[in-house]
Amino acid sequence: MTASPAPKTYRVKSFGCQMNVYDGERMAELLAEKGMTPAADGQDADLVVLNTCHIREKAAEKVYSDIGRLKKADGSKPLIAVAGCVAQAEGEEIMARAPAVSMVVGPQAYHRLPDLLDKAARGERATDTDMPANAKFDVLPQRRRAGPSAFLTVQEGCDKFCTYCVVPYTRGAEISRPYSDLIAEAEKLIENGAREITLLGQNVNAWTGEDTQGHAIGLDGLIRALDRMPDLQRIRYTTSHPNDVTDGLIAAHGEVAKLMPYLHLPVQSGSDRVLKAMNRSHTADSYLRLLDRFRAVRPDIALSGDFIVGFPGETEDEFADTLKLVDAVGYAAAFSFKYSPRPGTPAAEMDGMIAPEVMDERLQRLQAAINRHQLAFNQASVGKRCTVLVERKGKHPGQWLGKSPWLQSVHFLGDAAIGDVVEVDLIEAGPNSLAGRLVDSAL
Ligand code: SAH
Ligand code: SF4
Ligand code: F3S
Repeated sequence: MTASPAPKTYRVKSFGCQMNVYDGERMAELLAEKGMTPAADGQDADLVVLNTCHIREKAAEKVYSDIGRLKKADGSKPLIAVAGCVAQAEGEEIMARAPAVSMVVGPQAYHRLPDLLDKAARGERATDTDMPANAKFDVLPQRRRAGPSAFLTVQEGCDKFCTYCVVPYTRGAEISRPYSDLIAEAEKLIENGAREITLLGQNVNAWTGEDTQGHAIGLDGLIRALDRMPDLQRIRYTTSHPNDVTDGLIAAHGEVAKLMPYLHLPVQSGSDRVLKAMNRSHTADSYLRLLDRFRAVRPDIALSGDFIVGFPGETEDEFADTLKLVDAVGYAAAFSFKYSPRPGTPAAEMDGMIAPEVMDERLQRLQAAINRHQLAFNQASVGKRCTVLVERKGKHPGQWLGKSPWLQSVHFLGDAAIGDVVEVDLIEAGPNSLAGRLVDSAL
């Protein structure tokens, strides 16, 4: 590689979960602090950061095809950095296979992107996949512009080692960011326009810290601290693990008005045999009882989950148990995936791989069930009066789009502005959104 002029514009493309999106925002802020500007829509960028996800198959293949396709209008290649979980897992291979890539940087090392850029300017290719816990948060620039709804990573990594999952390998061990850092970052986000904060973590409810008096607190304590911030209107958190749900977190749903009535609690399967093989350490029944406790304090809570179909050895009866669980819960939304063998994970070595056509068929049946419940949930919301946080303009003149407390997309006409929390009557429901009628002026 030859030395190249310093890049002036950048584009960060994020492909993964919300934490990956958060990392993408932080990388963009870092590049902006170094004097670079974001490339405008439709314009070439001098530097492209591919912020990758490794959770399912084809992710890596997609990265290579993206690398191959990246070209500027004059036919030259931009400077390319591969970041995210594929970078962590396959950094060496990427460097070997894709000469167009100048930099590979892992999810715990991206604060060192400027060093890698300096090396690239000297014509050196460089990889940084160290995992210094929390180090990046100490050196990243302060948060700048925030939309009305902002992400805040509070916890990273995972020690659960579900047998199918790469996250413990790509993100490292569970760590919690310190309380005071999180309060400071939340204050910055609010100062810059955030009205809703979603606390993020691979197992966000495993977060622990110490408040300013030195008392040990859990996620509910952090939520209560955010609740005291006057200009913040809504609090959410994701993704939770059933084993880390505490009494305090459940109680918070009954007591903290700003905590939105929504819970994403992945379960993966409704079969105890499969759950055991997945190393989930909960049963279908213990999961259902947990949800009952949330519903007891917050009867209107919207429930969401993640599912994997076609885990090795999954029988038709075991899959039927998953459908049964979906019906028992009546999800407001849920994500479902075909099992994808990940290199280095125990499940990838298991017997009983499920044929692709069986997986397809199970996924379709599961998604049909989830969609049915989602529509029913939306229809049951018609007639309710609720708040909507306005996030953007709609397609039609005078139309606005935002989210209900239950995370449904709501569109309405009238006088509003981005960042307002308005009151609407929900008047019509579709599978993916609802129509609202504005009740009054902004709250
Ligand atoms: N920490 C969270 C989820 C992280 S990954 C949790 O445990 O709930 C997000 C979702 O991707 C998982 O909930 C799971 O449903 C899915 N997933 C993870 N590994 C997968 C694999 N190998 N194949 C298919 N889906 C997978
Ligand atoms: Fe993966 Fe399981 Fe950890 Fe979730 S809890 S990130 S599915 S290992
Ligand atoms: Fe993907 Fe990494 Fe998130 S593998 S799901 S980007 S933690």
